[in-house]
Amino acid sequence: MEVTETMIGTEGARLLAGRKGLVVGVANERSIAWGIARRAAQAGAEIAFTYQGETLEKRVRPLAERVDSSVVVPMDVTDDDQVERAFELVQEAFGGLDFLVHSVAYADKEDLLGRTVDTSREGFRRSMEISVYSLISLCRRAERSFSEGASILTLSYYGSVKAVPNYNVMGIAKAALEAAVRYLAVELGPRGVRVNAISAGPIRTLASSGITGLRDMLGDAAKRAPLRRNVDTDDVGAAGLYLLSPLSKGVTGEIHYVDAGYNITAL
Ligand SMILES: NC(=O)c1ccc[n+]([C@@H]2O[C@H](COP(=O)([O-])OP(=O)(O)OC[C@H]3O[C@@H](n4cnc5c(N)ncnc54)[C@H](O)[C@@H]3O)[C@@H](O)[C@H]2O)c1
Repeated sequence: MEVTETMIGTEGARLLAGRKGLVVGVANERSIAWGIARRAAQAGAEIAFTYQGETLEKRVRPLAERVDSSVVVPMDVTDDDQVERAFELVQEAFGGLDFLVHSVAYADKEDLLGRTVDTSREGFRRSMEISVYSLISLCRRAERSFSEGASILTLSYYGSVKAVPNYNVMGIAKAALEAAVRYLAVELGPRGVRVNAISAGPIRTLASSGITGLRDMLGDAAKRAPLRRNVDTDDVGAAGLYLLSPLSKGVTGEIHYVDAGYNITAL
């Protein structure tokens, strides 16, 4: 469903007018990062996008065009030179940054089934580097570009606080990511920069399709959640708009659940 200005109201439509942001983690139209980017663009933001590798570039460029963005740059978060170059290009195009969306995670497929006990050292290292350290390194690089009042948003999942079957190493990575949100919020706060996470309910995307038992997770969430449904990328995008905008100017270091209420239930 296309979101119209009437649906979010004229005020909502201008919440990010004149603001410039970088969105890291769009792979395709189903990406959570795309749900957030669409809402931000509808609210008046100018957005730069990154893509990981040439295959994804073909997906990301047409999406960027749909929100009138011409700043589309390569960035593999494990490659410091690419990260540096991407920020240089964004700085040239925008002159500064008002928000950063970090919507990146990775785990080897064999670490997303079976036992956490069997996680390999290399799989653990890769997962932590891409899913957690990348937030720290992007914040460090972006620090020079951030305006007063800038907002950083990352994406987490309930498997950080409860043991979810097959989520395994990603649960550990998300726990570390949520801790990183708090430490970064404390350090960047004095400059007026805010750092928050959305903990989203399960959504079928490229990344989540690697999780064994995703179908069961979706089914259980829809059955048990107070709203009796799964969330979609626009639910996350709408909450993301609030966290990126001055409406949340007093909020930092928070893990905000967008899961139709699933996390508050038991049995
Ligand atoms: N889909 C869900 O059910 C769900 C629920 C809660 C949280 N999340 C989180 O949302 C975020 C986005 O995932 P998604 O579900 O939209 O899937 P997605 O596959 O659309 O997005 C994941 C992104 O990570 C990027 N990425 C992976 N390794 C990278 C690297 N080395 N360098 C740069 N980019 C890299 C991919 O290119 C992709 O764009 C992730 O942090 C994920 O853990 C997803």
